[in-house]
Amino acid sequence: MALIALPRPGQIAVKNIGPFDLGRLARLHRGCFDDGWSRSDIAHLLSLPGSFGLIARCFDRGFSAIDGLRGVGFAICRVVRDESELLSIGVLQPWRKRGVAGMLLETAMFRAHEAGAEAMFLEVAVDNVTAQSLYERYCFERVGTRTDYYHRPDGRKTSAYTMKASLGSLRSRARLG
Ligand SMILES: CC(C)(COP(=O)(O)OP(=O)(O)OC[C@H]1O[C@@H](n2cnc3c(N)ncnc32)[C@H](O)[C@@H]1OP(=O)(O)O)[C@@H](O)C(=O)NCCC(=O)NCCS
Repeated sequence: MALIALPRPGQIAVKNIGPFDLGRLARLHRGCFDDGWSRSDIAHLLSLPGSFGLIARCFDRGFSAIDGLRGVGFAICRVVRDESELLSIGVLQPWRKRGVAGMLLETAMFRAHEAGAEAMFLEVAVDNVTAQSLYERYCFERVGTRTDYYHRPDGRKTSAYTMKASLGSLRSRARLG
């Protein structure tokens, strides 16, 4: 008799973004950034050759269960020849510090490597210490600084670090759901 394994509470699943997820992805992006991307911004990015998107769901109990199934985090990435770039990653506030971003990042690195990338690059604001520590945990290192890279909605400009991770020796436990 075949047994169906039900997800455990708190279990995270990462899957590829499909055409019906664009609205969901825009909602997630708006929930994570002050200058959220629109549905058409995201559709344009995902239409570029080598682009892919991931969405994380979290199986939970109680009132948050439905929100968790709709999606709690995302990552958007692009592979061009042997290099890849993490274009955006975010997790909604109530679902942070559970390893969701770590799982998205690990899956993105794995997917990019499968698609032929030997390295992944990203930009992160110099004052975004939380994201920097996430990236360092996944072996990203600072390789440069871009002055006034981000233009905030309030008019402020913030510089960014460029970070790079080698994907060559990647040993991923990630599985696409
Ligand atoms: C940066 C961001 C994506 C991190 O998301 P997250 O899901 O909270 O990240 P993780 O849970 O994977 O890791 C974050 C912390 O939670 C901790 N953590 C991971 N799993 C955990 C668990 N099961 N229980 C408790 N803590 C846990 C980790 O130790 C980590 O802390 P550390 O970096 O000090 O070691 C999130 O804060 C975010 O969306 N910020 C706004 C958007 C943003 O800045 N994006 C990056 C732009 S470059």
